[in-house]
Amino acid sequence: MKKKLAAMAVVGAALCMSTMMVSAEEDLITVGYAQVGHESDWRTANTQDYQNVFSEENGYELSLIDCDNDNAAQLEAVRNFIQQGMDYIIIAPIQSAGWDTVLQEALDAGIPVIIADREIEASEDMYDAWVGTDPHNEGVTAGNWLAEQLDGAEANILQIEGTVGASATIGRTEGFAEVAAEHDEWTILDSQSGDFTQDGGQAVMESFIKSYEGEFNVVVCQNDNEAYGAMDAMDAAGITYGADGDVILISYDATHDGLQYTLDGKINLDVECNPIQAETVKGVIEKMEAGEEFEARTLVEEQAFCAPGIESEYAVQMTQEILDGRAY
Ligand code: AHR
Repeated sequence: MKKKLAAMAVVGAALCMSTMMVSAEEDLITVGYAQVGHESDWRTANTQDYQNVFSEENGYELSLIDCDNDNAAQLEAVRNFIQQGMDYIIIAPIQSAGWDTVLQEALDAGIPVIIADREIEASEDMYDAWVGTDPHNEGVTAGNWLAEQLDGAEANILQIEGTVGASATIGRTEGFAEVAAEHDEWTILDSQSGDFTQDGGQAVMESFIKSYEGEFNVVVCQNDNEAYGAMDAMDAAGITYGADGDVILISYDATHDGLQYTLDGKINLDVECNPIQAETVKGVIEKMEAGEEFEARTLVEEQAFCAPGIESEYAVQMTQEILDGRAY
């Protein structure tokens, strides 16, 4: 279903200095985006990015549903998009599993589906395209950086994972674990979900401190908001962290505030997960609209940032210039 937009334009006639109103009709492409929720600064940036790119000025009518990290609500949102006959459906899957039935419903309705941000456990012929990040590689990067920095020294690691069942959690956990398995001198003392939220990160870190105080020298938080919560918990317990502290603090996302803490030396390493994906998704839709070939899978670019003064082959040192260029 395409909606019509009656656009009024003012055209200037340079010679006679008069203006006239003309109207034009443009197609508005309807897009339903089943967004994960609003659990993190990363997610807020991703929502804003979609709202900026899929605007009426750009020819789109965007229905963005915040599914509040509720898997059932997200399935219902997609079903509603199908009933409304959206031109395109975008899904950022909260959970990677359990999508076959609703994807089949979209297929039967002839509505193209683009999976965004996270991975989905479904056959690739059940959806049209995928645009997102590589959390497994992010986890490997975090592990390689830690190995490089420790250079054979012992590591007693606490990990605060993201949402259970999310591919961002699964990929980061598996990628980091693969590197950890190569190091007999590393022990992962514990790994619990903080649900990608600041409150969750703080609660898990408080409980870790009760169980492991004095026993750990590395904390890995699977997003920046969890890291802020963990920092609050360590501050309250008098535990020092960061480039000059007793505990190495690793985070993921590299949002503006996370990078500010990295520049300040409070976070040792922040592995980027890039939320700016909407323009790439729009490019795929434009190609579909034009009947042209499009990329079935597109990875957005990512890098890692470490505190100033830390030499690394896996991360660039934070600078004020990098921070100034980070809009989210
Ligand atoms: O899927 C991306 C992850 O989801 C980000 O790391 C996290 O902040 C968000 O909630």
